[in-house]
Amino acid sequence: MEEEINLQKKYINKIKELNNKENKYYILTMGCQLNENDSEKISGMLEDMGYNKIDKMEEASLIVFNTCCIRENAEDKLFGKLGEAKKIKEKKNTIIAICGCMMQQKHIIEKIKKSYPYVDIIFGTHTLHKLPEDLYKVILNSIKINDVIDIDGKVYEGLPISRNDTVKASVTIMYGCDNFCSYCIVPYVRGRERSRRPEDIIEEVTKLAKDGYKEITLLGQNVNSYMNAERKKDKSIQYGFANLLRDINKIEGIERIRFISPHPKDFTDDVIDAIKDCDKVCKIIHLPLQSGSTNVLKNMNRKYTKESYLNLVNKIKNKIPYVTFSTDIIVGFPGETQEDFEETLDVVEKVKFEQVYMFIYSRRIGTSADKMLNQIPEEIKHKRFDKLKTLVESQIPENNKKYINTIQKVLIEGKSKNNEKMLTGRTETNKVVVLDADEKYINKIIDVKIIEDCMWYLKGGR
Ligand code: SAH
Ligand code: SF4
Ligand code: F3S
Repeated sequence: MEEEINLQKKYINKIKELNNKENKYYILTMGCQLNENDSEKISGMLEDMGYNKIDKMEEASLIVFNTCCIRENAEDKLFGKLGEAKKIKEKKNTIIAICGCMMQQKHIIEKIKKSYPYVDIIFGTHTLHKLPEDLYKVILNSIKINDVIDIDGKVYEGLPISRNDTVKASVTIMYGCDNFCSYCIVPYVRGRERSRRPEDIIEEVTKLAKDGYKEITLLGQNVNSYMNAERKKDKSIQYGFANLLRDINKIEGIERIRFISPHPKDFTDDVIDAIKDCDKVCKIIHLPLQSGSTNVLKNMNRKYTKESYLNLVNKIKNKIPYVTFSTDIIVGFPGETQEDFEETLDVVEKVKFEQVYMFIYSRRIGTSADKMLNQIPEEIKHKRFDKLKTLVESQIPENNKKYINTIQKVLIEGKSKNNEKMLTGRTETNKVVVLDADEKYINKIIDVKIIEDCMWYLKGGR
């Protein structure tokens, strides 16, 4: 594996020799934080080749679209952007590369070949590290490259990375997903679960701490099954997600640790204890519910029930004082009845999530839910979505009220977009706080007294 990365580094140097200072790249990332983290690796490779990142697509000599296919609207976005990129290519002979989850679907590749033949490089989620080689061949020989494989990518270490932020960093701890929730495309486009070695993750976080990073988000599709596949293969391995949290908690300089997403079915007691014991681990847990109906959950292949989800929430609340939750919910899954939907509303009423990410069910080709005959009409899906949104919004004032007159630790991120005179930051529970304070606090975690609830954000004083 090291050999493969060394080979790619040679291609990076070869392109660097060909490139002059004028070379600029534009990258658009769609989808989740895992994709964002992949894009940071793509940026790392490109910048080592001598490309400079720019925000204006029309000025780029290389355009990269890192795609997502979790829902239909994510896919639509790419085709719109490809039209724009074509016009730029006609003027500037720009190289167009597309990568990411969408590229792992055969029907998409066929569509691109047929309708968008001007795309130069297509690479998938398992061949990201090969971008230098692919790009070199395109630059030198003006050929089209299709570098998508169906075999799970190995866990490559040592790729260069250029991060988007200087205080907060994402660290992917595992790739792929084994869960096959019936609505979800991810297991098909990201392959089977495979974890990075703890020592590699710890080394990366230690380096981030040295570089001044304060907040780390550990990423994976199912973080609390970290090392599960490896443990199954090798019985002598004992290490799991709880151990990783404890080890990262010890790294000096890191002040906040977050993780997304855990799966309720894998939320073992040792993980709850680690969250409780580790002072840097934020006491907000993203616990994807998807549906509150046991019936729907069964059809979704989620492997928990309404009751076991609520029991888990209560167990965590009992062990960890002041813990809060955020969640993901899908409305309009095939066969979801009005009663099923009301079960979802019931869980939302009970748990009072800090944040709910709401999605309308979207059919994904190749998933088992797509083949279900009892699909819900769009109109009903939208009505349910609106109802859920109304409930979630009605809970915001009550959720916010508990912050008033408390002192919160806030990581100050910069100037507020709406008011240049104010600073903005986030609490441990990810609430946005706007306050009037000196710019010297930017990138620092400071104590802030919360004085006002402004619905979508909290106002702080010093
Ligand atoms: N692995 C994570 C999240 C994966 S995708 C987890 O299991 O929680 C992020 C969210 O997108 C999911 O939690 C789900 O709520 C939503 N999602 C996934 N597939 C979807 C689909 N086909 N239609 C609508 N929403 C979907
Ligand atoms: Fe998709 Fe389920 Fe895996 Fe999450 S756990 S990525 S929802 S299959
Ligand atoms: Fe999308 Fe792929 Fe993430 S499908 S949500 S970018 S893992």
